[in-house]
Amino acid sequence: MNKKIALGQFYTPLTLSKEMVKLALELLDSDPSEAIELAAGEGNLIAELRKQVPFCKISAVDLDLENTKLLKKHDTEFKVYNADALMPLNFLGEEKFILGLGNPPFLSNILVDKFIQEILSKYLNLDFKVGSTVRAEYVFICQYLSIIKNNGLLAIILPESIISGSRSKKFREGLLENWRIEKILEIQGNPFEQTEAKTHILFIRKAIPNKSNISIQRLNFLNKVEVLGDINIELLEERMDFSFFINSMNYSKQRKLSDFAEISRGKRSHKELKELNQPYLHTTNLDSNPNEAVQKIENNITYTTRGDVVMCRVGTRIVGKSIEYMGERIEISDCLYNIKFKENVIKKEFMDYINSPSGLASLKAIAKGVCSRYITKKDLENFLF
Ligand SMILES: C[S@@+](CC[C@H](N)C(=O)[O-])C[C@H]1O[C@@H](n2cnc3c(N)ncnc32)[C@H](O)[C@@H]1O
Repeated sequence: MNKKIALGQFYTPLTLSKEMVKLALELLDSDPSEAIELAAGEGNLIAELRKQVPFCKISAVDLDLENTKLLKKHDTEFKVYNADALMPLNFLGEEKFILGLGNPPFLSNILVDKFIQEILSKYLNLDFKVGSTVRAEYVFICQYLSIIKNNGLLAIILPESIISGSRSKKFREGLLENWRIEKILEIQGNPFEQTEAKTHILFIRKAIPNKSNISIQRLNFLNKVEVLGDINIELLEERMDFSFFINSMNYSKQRKLSDFAEISRGKRSHKELKELNQPYLHTTNLDSNPNEAVQKIENNITYTTRGDVVMCRVGTRIVGKSIEYMGERIEISDCLYNIKFKENVIKKEFMDYINSPSGLASLKAIAKGVCSRYITKKDLENFLF
């Protein structure tokens, strides 16, 4: 694996750095006297901070020796440390910071040792076993919280999977229950070269939570901040993405899919179905309409029948793709949902909606995941049309 991938070396573009620093400074009472970045890379974020607050004392850490040399060359005033920020930060001594800026490596395979286990539990209420693996971003957040002064601020870039993925629900609960989240900002588009990652910025104050709703915003293509409104913490524990909430709000007076249809997910994988050597429907043969009916109906198997809607559950390009099935009863794979409507008129309206540009965009907006996009059953049941 090359160094860029192994260390998650994808640097924050200038326009985003500028906006992120500006928004962080707006949340502080006065310009920060000291700040730190724990995975500073080539220093795009701290260079911007230097421009906006010239007198700020800035510390920077990076594991990569080449980066630390670059950082020192870039600004002789930076206090630069070549160190692993996932280990105890004793080299910082007693120093604490009013501002932390972060775009940590997006890595999912950090080995949990005793130290990491302790800080995950202390700062995020997360229970990980020594020897298991954890996302680097969780550990970075704990490390920042340990060196930021009370009432100080952390502005940190995080990937979509942490903001909306089901696997990060416990992390979101731990964060929202223990710390004051000032705002959650989605970055429209993908400003990071060579990564597929959709990103968000969390603005976390090192203080106990004091409100039940949090401001959800988006930095759009024009670099303008759009404010959606305040969303309740309980909903944010499920997911925190602007795209999802804007979809639910725009259509809040309309129909919820689960009130009009029964949704079931296929049970067996494509591999299992292939081995059974009998007809089945999968994302690759959605348009096939077999004439032969299934002989024996088994419990615990999901079938589709003539007139049902079949929808792709996973796949970056095809997620949400739907057809009205016109063949005989057939088993569907676990990459598909079967949607059985109670009334044909409503089915037609649903199909017309999800095949319109805005409907398709709304459906795609409920998908989660970074590399491969997927729609959860719960989100599909709550889909409004
Ligand atoms: C996504 S880049 C971000 C760089 C910079 N923050 C920016 O926004 O441009 C992540 C950086 O983390 C560094 N890194 C990876 N693992 C690290 C670790 N365990 N401790 C400190 N730095 C690390 C990489 O060398 C890389 O420079």
